[in-house]
Amino acid sequence: PTAQIGVTGLAVMGRNLARNLARNGFTVAVHNRSPERTRSLVAEHGDEGAFVPSESLADFVASLERPRAIVVMVKAGDPTDAVLGELVPLLEPGDIVVDCGNAHFADTRRREEALREHGLHFVGTGVSGGEEGALHGPSIMPGGSAESYRKLGPIFERIAAQVDGVPCCRHIGPDGAGHFVKMVHNGIEYADMQLIAEAYDLLRAGLSAGPAEIAEIFRGWNTGELESFLIEITADVLAHPDAATGRPFVDVVRDEAEQKGTGRWTVQNALDLGIPITGIAEATFARSLSGHAEQRAAARRAFADAGQPWWVENRDTFVEDVRRALLASKIVAYAQGFDHIRAGSREYDWGIDLGGTATIWRGGCIIRARFLDRIREAYDARPDLPTLLLAPWFADRVSDGVPSWRRVVADAARAGVPAPAFASSLAYFDALRAERLPAALIQGLRDNFGAHTYHRVDREGTFHTLWAGDRSEVSA
Ligand code: 6PG
Repeated sequence: PTAQIGVTGLAVMGRNLARNLARNGFTVAVHNRSPERTRSLVAEHGDEGAFVPSESLADFVASLERPRAIVVMVKAGDPTDAVLGELVPLLEPGDIVVDCGNAHFADTRRREEALREHGLHFVGTGVSGGEEGALHGPSIMPGGSAESYRKLGPIFERIAAQVDGVPCCRHIGPDGAGHFVKMVHNGIEYADMQLIAEAYDLLRAGLSAGPAEIAEIFRGWNTGELESFLIEITADVLAHPDAATGRPFVDVVRDEAEQKGTGRWTVQNALDLGIPITGIAEATFARSLSGHAEQRAAARRAFADAGQPWWVENRDTFVEDVRRALLASKIVAYAQGFDHIRAGSREYDWGIDLGGTATIWRGGCIIRARFLDRIREAYDARPDLPTLLLAPWFADRVSDGVPSWRRVVADAARAGVPAPAFASSLAYFDALRAERLPAALIQGLRDNFGAHTYHRVDREGTFHTLWAGDRSEVSA
């Protein structure tokens, strides 16, 4: 056996990961259920490095140095369990199975426990960066045992994206921690994309500008604080003319956003943990809403004139308002995402380092952005930061942005342009900083109809008012 690491599942992501490994000098065992893919990989890219192809899983396993390290890159869900079912009987204690698919972290926890009983390490690993990232350097988020990382770390850190000489890969924590962090990454990706889309829509409505003109605005933003992969490709997509019609590409694409489900998982888990990730939730629901074509058509007919005309007096001021509102809303989305990671880490006892997580998102992944460096600094300086909004750099941006944020959300509301993520981020900010919340009334109502009790501001204890009786208060 000569191969240092193996990859089974050679669709585009697996294929590119295998090539990345080989290009970095590792000897890579490769296998795919249908052998054509294995053959074409070796035929087309065999000169990039050392591949050891196998047509059977048994030969593949036998071609690997021990302890074996095997990357499984198949569709998340049942296909993963099917591969594990075949693979596990061929392995020996100490071997490492790495699942690089977008698995749900709860599945990863279950699989980790099952493989541990066979003496195997199961390492659920988040990989972000799409096809290009897999080939040229993704962001890699491995969970699993610390022991497995001693073998995997040097390999993954080598093939990951590098920022300032630091690899975008680190051990996140035990069992499902890596897939959990990847899940929240995707949730933030949803929020970020929704905010960008709303900013585009507002610019389009407020300026009566076309996509090509708005592309230039995004291009400008990408040279400042907002610099990020998503802003960069937004400019690219907006400037793109449709090949068939010559019209702006965004105008020929159906406005129904799809999803594979990782954003939904993020929201579902946040509900369980009680973490208000309102930006991610709005973004996820905005995608669902966009897909309800029949309802939308009916409502469009019924309420055609419900908005008010909108014209912007000063173009530059408005563009700057939208930029500041976008930045502030984006800070809220990231603050919420990091709150979610902290809560998950506590709930599942993972010990996740928030600054470290920001560090490995600086490059390779879809949400890579200049300001992740600021997030890293914020959590490195103060790991117990109550919310990212309080870190000086972010607090300044949010405070400076508040007037713009309010103008943009108010203008959008008046004009009838939906900006759910902008509006909900602002509401989150205002709720967090509110002196008193109407939650007190909610408590009163709960006590009134269901004797659910409440706490007082002036005394310790739990109380109930005898609403149907003499309205005196009793200790509950
Ligand atoms: C990444 C992405 C990727 C995700 C796609 C599509 O980090 O490379 O998050 O993992 O699968 O972005 O996601 P949706 O289909 O849910 O939009």
